[in-house]
Amino acid sequence: MKVGVPKEIKPQEYRVGLTPGAVREYLAAGHEVVVETNAGAGIGADDAAYLKAGAQIAPGAAQVFADAEMIVKVKEPQPQEWQRLSEGQILFTYLHLAPDPRQTEGLMKSGCTAVAYETVTDARGGLPLLAPMSEVAGRLSIEAAGMALKSSNGGRGLLLGGVPGVQPAKVVVIGGGVVGTHAARMAAGLGAEVTILDRSLPRLRELDDLFMSRIKTRFSSIESIEEEVFSADVVIGAVLVPGASAPKLVTRDMLKEMKRGAVVVDVAIDQGGCFETSHATTHADPTYVVDGIIHYCVANMPGSVPLTSSHALNNATLPFGLALADKGLRALLDDPHLRAGLNVHRGEITHPAVAKSLGLPLKDAVEAVQEDLRRHGARLAS
Ligand SMILES: NC(=O)c1ccc[n+]([C@@H]2O[C@H](COP(=O)([O-])OP(=O)(O)OC[C@H]3O[C@@H](n4cnc5c(N)ncnc54)[C@H](O)[C@@H]3O)[C@@H](O)[C@H]2O)c1
Repeated sequence: MKVGVPKEIKPQEYRVGLTPGAVREYLAAGHEVVVETNAGAGIGADDAAYLKAGAQIAPGAAQVFADAEMIVKVKEPQPQEWQRLSEGQILFTYLHLAPDPRQTEGLMKSGCTAVAYETVTDARGGLPLLAPMSEVAGRLSIEAAGMALKSSNGGRGLLLGGVPGVQPAKVVVIGGGVVGTHAARMAAGLGAEVTILDRSLPRLRELDDLFMSRIKTRFSSIESIEEEVFSADVVIGAVLVPGASAPKLVTRDMLKEMKRGAVVVDVAIDQGGCFETSHATTHADPTYVVDGIIHYCVANMPGSVPLTSSHALNNATLPFGLALADKGLRALLDDPHLRAGLNVHRGEITHPAVAKSLGLPLKDAVEAVQEDLRRHGARLAS
């Protein structure tokens, strides 16, 4: 199959769909890869690196979209990209269609087969193509908190790990999933005192085993959140209730009881945030202050470390992308977890949650693919 990698055009997006290392894997499996010139500039991979990996370089996005049977990207396609997608072409990228009717309409009109990273599942019920970005954001949250705690940045003037003879910072992590675990790992590694709160007792037991008492765990309730947050130097918001906005667990009133110059990092801001006072910020202006508490609420944290993020994303997407390249649409029939990623197919919505959110009719994914293979099988299974 011919696989195309356009340069990302969403503002402040520096990641790339395929790294040169991933290109080599596609070539080794017998595929061709065409990469738009400068697509890897954000991760320091120039055209020469892609040529060395065996890719062809296209002078612009138009040629990539025109030549490739499958497009591999990072961010959801922008309006000029919807227009370039063609009937029967596979698109493999993050889409986040539920809150985005315009993009959904654009993809439906294109006739493409859109497989969304964020709804691909794994056997344990996880979201394997979202997890790497949560790992990155969790680890980054502690770096962000450490920066904001400095007095030059308005913080309490505290070193996360303290020094011998001086108390370290107290870091409270609300939500012990992927983000929370990686935040806790970083904070504990730096020597901070760490407490994780979660609503899931099985998860708290796993965390207790994982950290072998190096951190404290607490069941998340109104009372425990108040007690922990009031004495915290740093609070990381890392909750997720699948399919819902983040619950507002820390209210504005609670901020008044916190230490002045304490820092809250609301990683869950992409789901609306779990602090009542959160609003999304950007890397260019990441923090603001409410009632003396510094808020860091960047909605696309992994975007600030595109090199790490691109490699982490490619590690996770590679097996699924290779399956699509090897088998075409048949890969969606063979693997129910990859099929869970199928959001739009030839003008119809094939993902239940997307159809429900947008009030659009749902087409069964298996039926959609089987019908397609009957009609166009030979070409798509190439
Ligand atoms: N800002 C960014 O750049 C960025 C990047 C990656 C992920 N995220 C977001 O971070 C959030 C967390 O993602 P994740 O991958 O860790 O999710 P996850 O599903 O792995 O973990 C979420 C955890 O929250 C817990 N939880 C739910 N309700 C709770 C409550 N009331 N109190 C305490 N814990 C509660 C769950 O039990 C679960 O353990 C999501 O909203 C995700 O979209 C943001």
